[in-house]
Amino acid sequence: MAQTVYSIDEARDVAKKRIPKIIFDFIDGAAGNESAKQRNREALEAIHLQPRVLINVDQRSLKTNFLGREWGLPFGIAPMGLCNLAWPQTDQAFAQAAQDYNIPAALSTAGSTSIEDFGAIAKQNGWFQLYVGGAEKQAMSLVSRAEAAGYDTLIFTVDVPQVAPRRRDMRNQFGMPFKIGPKQFWDFATHPRWSFASLFAGAPRLANFPNANSKQDGWDRNSGRGKIDFDFLERLRQKWPHKLIVKGVTFGEDAQRIQEYGADAVWVSNHGGRQLASAPPAIHLLPKIRQAVGPDYPLMFDSGVRNGDSVVKALALGADFVMMGRPFLWGTAAGGETGLKNVIDLLANEISVTMAQVGKVCVQDIDSSILVKSMK
Ligand SMILES: Cc1cc2nc3c(=O)[nH]c(=O)nc-3n(C[C@H](O)[C@H](O)[C@H](O)COP(=O)(O)O)c2cc1C
Repeated sequence: MAQTVYSIDEARDVAKKRIPKIIFDFIDGAAGNESAKQRNREALEAIHLQPRVLINVDQRSLKTNFLGREWGLPFGIAPMGLCNLAWPQTDQAFAQAAQDYNIPAALSTAGSTSIEDFGAIAKQNGWFQLYVGGAEKQAMSLVSRAEAAGYDTLIFTVDVPQVAPRRRDMRNQFGMPFKIGPKQFWDFATHPRWSFASLFAGAPRLANFPNANSKQDGWDRNSGRGKIDFDFLERLRQKWPHKLIVKGVTFGEDAQRIQEYGADAVWVSNHGGRQLASAPPAIHLLPKIRQAVGPDYPLMFDSGVRNGDSVVKALALGADFVMMGRPFLWGTAAGGETGLKNVIDLLANEISVTMAQVGKVCVQDIDSSILVKSMK
């Protein structure tokens, strides 16, 4: 029986006990001294919302229009590599939740499930995220596969010109395939439920690259992705006729240029603090980017969101849609599909209650008027 959790932090605590340290650290870790990750959260907590009274908020809806269609909730699941490390079948649980809640769930290029298998479950709610690690031809072939599998939204992640050193991973010698020395053996042996489940399910792998661990295949998780530039974005825009989101943008001028190159949305993110330890908190950049792209251009946000209040804050500061990463891995690691549902339900409930407190009945009415004045 999965243990019910009442906050994302609790889900993280339960997950920490259930999964090996090497996996916990891979998920929880961030770049350098991890200060960007910490600031993301602190900055969100420091924003205050203004409670309002005597407004009829009895009937509230979390339905949200974004990118030309309706979603069940104003948030979705961000792309994350090797999710099945958190618990076997995590990708499948994400894809199923995308269907059950009518929310988007994104599969990473470094995903542990294939584009085709993920798409078959998530259907029209599955998005594919592109990294250009090796040759452009290889990246474009992933794009073709996503199109053939029926995806209608592609996320192009641009904030990993080089994978940042994550000290916990280095210390733990995290890598694919796992190096099993005495330290790792002990780590796995002391988390038998995870180890048996993972043994039974088969070791997670980079499922979009059948030969990923061989030298010839040419895709390495740690490879430099520094070659991509605006010319590549132009070629990608020509190749991909459907919705294109550019993820990992933190600067107004970049956002404006991406908009000019025909992207359908910009995703404001500092990768959950996993790329540049000195990056400013992503939430501080959101209003500036909103100003740069104008009031109507589709904007997404992630990095540090750990409760429903923070989703509402991001919407108030200019986001049209909010994504999260780690919270969903914690939920699934803590309790499988039930744990994931627990986390999604609690976030949805927190959003709804926060909306009631600030006097809003629908997501599109959330704006800067709900922020405490000094915060605007
Ligand atoms: C374990 C892990 C793996 C990730 N892998 C990817 C990835 O493959 N592609 C990508 O665009 N972002 C990746 N991200 C970043 C997430 O998409 C997202 O931007 C970030 O988790 C948001 O911050 P949050 O975890 O504070 O919600 C990863 C994040 C985590 C925690």
